[in-house]
Amino acid sequence: MQGCDVMNFQTVDYIDWFRINWHDIDYDLATSGLHPVSLSDVNIHLDDLNLGKTLFFGHPKLVEMISEIYGVEENEILITSGSTHANYLMCALLIEQGDEVIIERPVYTPLLDVVKFFGAKVKYLERKYEEGYNLNLEQLKEMTGKDTRMMVFTNLHNPSGAMTNEKTLKAISEIADDNNIYVLSDEVYRDFIFENAPPIFSSLTQLGISTCSVSKFYGAGALRVGWAMCREELVDKARKLNDYILAANSCGGEEIAALIMENRSWFVEKIMNITKRNRPLVKSWIEKREDLEGIVPRHGFICFPRLLLDIDSMELTELLLKKYRTMISPARFFDCEKHIRIGYGGDEMILEKGLEYLGFALDELGGSEK
Ligand SMILES: Cc1ncc(COP(=O)(O)O)c(C=O)c1O
Repeated sequence: MQGCDVMNFQTVDYIDWFRINWHDIDYDLATSGLHPVSLSDVNIHLDDLNLGKTLFFGHPKLVEMISEIYGVEENEILITSGSTHANYLMCALLIEQGDEVIIERPVYTPLLDVVKFFGAKVKYLERKYEEGYNLNLEQLKEMTGKDTRMMVFTNLHNPSGAMTNEKTLKAISEIADDNNIYVLSDEVYRDFIFENAPPIFSSLTQLGISTCSVSKFYGAGALRVGWAMCREELVDKARKLNDYILAANSCGGEEIAALIMENRSWFVEKIMNITKRNRPLVKSWIEKREDLEGIVPRHGFICFPRLLLDIDSMELTELLLKKYRTMISPARFFDCEKHIRIGYGGDEMILEKGLEYLGFALDELGGSEK
């Protein structure tokens, strides 16, 4: 691992912006997963919570749950403090100054930032609106070569919610194997695919790393529990690297995560109900707008409509925040322009009001309904 310039690092602008704005709003259309539920909803009691014994290999119950759900060997699971931590550890281990890394765009910029933090030379694989934000394999083949160290993408894609299917994933794994390229597949939204889910990427090649967490599907981001699934050698190395940072994660957090995951079917039902209610709401609202276009994808709780107004999406976002206490995510945080990301995994009334305010803000900037 090469040292990075820790005194002069670039800030992770999206997280920084969220930290400043997220707690001071009434209508949250920025959260990308399920909005939080309470422990009593899932009948969880914590009378026997372990507060004393540090678990250096992750909470056994949590590791067992992950192994069962994803069909992965327990020694191929690294428990982390959120997928952010997992992504960081993997990039720290695998990227050296000047390494070429291919990353999707639009991109969840904290992923891009971490790759850059370790000194990668970045090449962008463009996901195009016109192509349903699908990964373009021809372009990927042309871009990859012996100098490529790593590819990074999300499945489901953040921000568009597009799903990459098994055939494409297999083709990517072949490109990876042919050129000896690591693949970091951030799968924090994959759990939202209930039927015919594509495989986790790490099951396709020894060079694959899948990262995930309880933040999106279980709405438990504040627990800070995530994991990486990859070959054992990488798990061991990441653990040793983590000795410099956390040594071990919060055992209480991991235990609660395991208890939550035991209630997976409750979450599936909850998510299906919210989808049934909220998805048509967002879809018909977008269709009514003259100034937006785009689909609401089948899986997950995010969509990424294109702005047809000649304005900066940050201007719209700021107006919405200041005047209407409503939050969306502007395109800037996905390294692109002229889009907004709307999250709809929460209360129906909040969503309706938030969309109404979003409409008012668009109108004020020159937009209109059809
Ligand atoms: C693609 C992606 N990866 C990682 C994260 C961070 O999640 P976690 O809470 O697991 O660190 C997010 C959060 O929005 C995300 O969208």
